[in-house]
Amino acid sequence: MWSAERLRSLIPAGGLGEDLYYYPSVGSTNDRAKELAEAGCPTGTVVVADEQTAGRGRAGRGWFTPAGAALAFSVVLRPPEAPADDLAPSGPRAPARRGETAGWTAVGALSVRDGLAALGAEAEIKWPNDVLLARRKAAGVLAEAAWRADAVTHVVIGIGVNVTPDSVPGPRLLDYPATCVETHLGHPVDRADLLAGILASLERWTAGFRLSAVLAAWEASLAFRGESVHVEGEGRAWQGQLSGLGPRGELRLRLDNGDSLLLPAGVMHLRPVDSGPV
Ligand code: BTN
Repeated sequence: MWSAERLRSLIPAGGLGEDLYYYPSVGSTNDRAKELAEAGCPTGTVVVADEQTAGRGRAGRGWFTPAGAALAFSVVLRPPEAPADDLAPSGPRAPARRGETAGWTAVGALSVRDGLAALGAEAEIKWPNDVLLARRKAAGVLAEAAWRADAVTHVVIGIGVNVTPDSVPGPRLLDYPATCVETHLGHPVDRADLLAGILASLERWTAGFRLSAVLAAWEASLAFRGESVHVEGEGRAWQGQLSGLGPRGELRLRLDNGDSLLLPAGVMHLRPVDSGPV
């Protein structure tokens, strides 16, 4: 069991997590963080929970967070700490697509990758937002932005990491093979240390946000590059070779006829063509 005191002792003063809310059990840390943001909490506020009873994943799915097993937290960022998301939707359909937050999602996934690297685990990012260890999902990111007119008022970056084997959902809840950090590393992991490592990295990525650096790091960590993948979304499906990212974080697919296609993150699901049953 961890405590707010232990978490606070690991987080440097003046940075992300200086304002820290710890809950033994909460519905969803993203929902709690949104409430705090709407009530005016400072940028960098972090909400952590031991257990979530209504954890949320992408595309309206649930996120399994039993007590004592997972890392589940959300970070509130406001401009200027919430950097202008140059990957946010633009153009005529932009207002309808404002829930899409490719840049912040990528920054969240890169921070998890860095936090895991500090523990000796080499992670990859399954476009757009899943963090994989040995090709199995170990973490996910749900970034949600609030807008007033054309400006972002705040962003909530929610991160869930499977830490102990108890945090890995059973097969009925899985839509992609999953693992956890402890199984991957073969030894116990302190969730508070992992949280501190991820926050330190998130702070570096947001403080010096450069879209080109985010895209380069994201592309360098991309899982299944050069492999055949299947992508589904918006009622359509595509298959081709994953060749990298586009200039706005789109997935670049090379189709069998040689054409290249750019797919926007939106609500897309990707899996390698050779993946067996979950
Ligand atoms: C996904 O892979 O679908 C994204 C999962 C994001 C889960 C985290 S856990 C902390 C935060 N609170 C939530 O309700 N969701 C995010």
